[in-house]
Amino acid sequence: MNRLATLALVLTLSLAGSAAAQDFPTRPITMIVPFAAGGPTDVLGRLMAQHMGNTLGQNIVVEDVTGAAGSLGVARVARAPGDGYTIGIGHWSTHVANGAVYNLPYDLLTDLEPIALLPSNPFLIVTGNAMPAKNLQELVAWLKANPSATIGTAGVGSGSHIAGVYFQTFAGTHLSYVPYRGTDPALIDLMAGRIDMMFDQVSEAIQKLQAGQIKAYAVTAKNRLPSLPDIPTVDEAGMPGLYINVWYGLWAPKHTPQDIIAKLNRAAVAAMADPTVQMRFDDLSLDMPPPDQQSPAALGALQKAEIEKWWPIIKAAGIKAE
Ligand code: MLT
Repeated sequence: MNRLATLALVLTLSLAGSAAAQDFPTRPITMIVPFAAGGPTDVLGRLMAQHMGNTLGQNIVVEDVTGAAGSLGVARVARAPGDGYTIGIGHWSTHVANGAVYNLPYDLLTDLEPIALLPSNPFLIVTGNAMPAKNLQELVAWLKANPSATIGTAGVGSGSHIAGVYFQTFAGTHLSYVPYRGTDPALIDLMAGRIDMMFDQVSEAIQKLQAGQIKAYAVTAKNRLPSLPDIPTVDEAGMPGLYINVWYGLWAPKHTPQDIIAKLNRAAVAAMADPTVQMRFDDLSLDMPPPDQQSPAALGALQKAEIEKWWPIIKAAGIKAE
């Protein structure tokens, strides 16, 4: 092909690309949620999907693709065509921690395009109501006296699992990990007394806690939450520095055209700016990222910085997929 013909081809392809982006979306979009229905990722995903779908004029259909601490769902997004019709919600553990725990069949940074940073929340250390311990120190003492104590997680390498292992390095306790496909089924077993404790994200635990169905011992944040003023921070409860913040994001497969990413980002930003969505975030105690952090670039930068911070911690703690 001579240079003129090549130039014409490139021009035609890029015009076709931007026309496709202009019309996007012309059919429903699929949002992959990598954990069980009813859990914190699923609840936030559905909230975003509904509002973003209204903005974009097409339904966003949520599909829960669970297993292997969310990595099966993320793999589905990484393998999908980069046309904007498959996107995925994930968080600190799926898009940071999993890379240190699994030999992933995709690269977290190069096989995915960031779309938008979403809200975040810390964990609560929770037990069922039958737990006799009155505070975190008593809980640690109880765990030491009960070496067969169980902790529910969303799978090896999930946020709830890594938080548990991190806790053990502070507490010097032994825990048996019970994996689920998300924290929602684990929470059901916690309330039924089938497991002893959990690290559960505030957005999921808050309603059960306010209804008196579970107990909480500490929040993995530097400051007490305005929504739960009676729950001490880990510093106050005697585990200084056990901070974990689970931030969420949206990603598309690599090669998704930048103007489609920009359209999806605008829809996500519009959802987060909507007062009714903000009220729901407040109920769930989810913390909104500041407007200048809601861009694809800000999500990409945060993900990279968190990989640099957490991979050495996770590897030093010896957390590995069995
Ligand atoms: C879930 O949605 O079940 C949780 O986000 C899983 C986790 O990270 O522990």
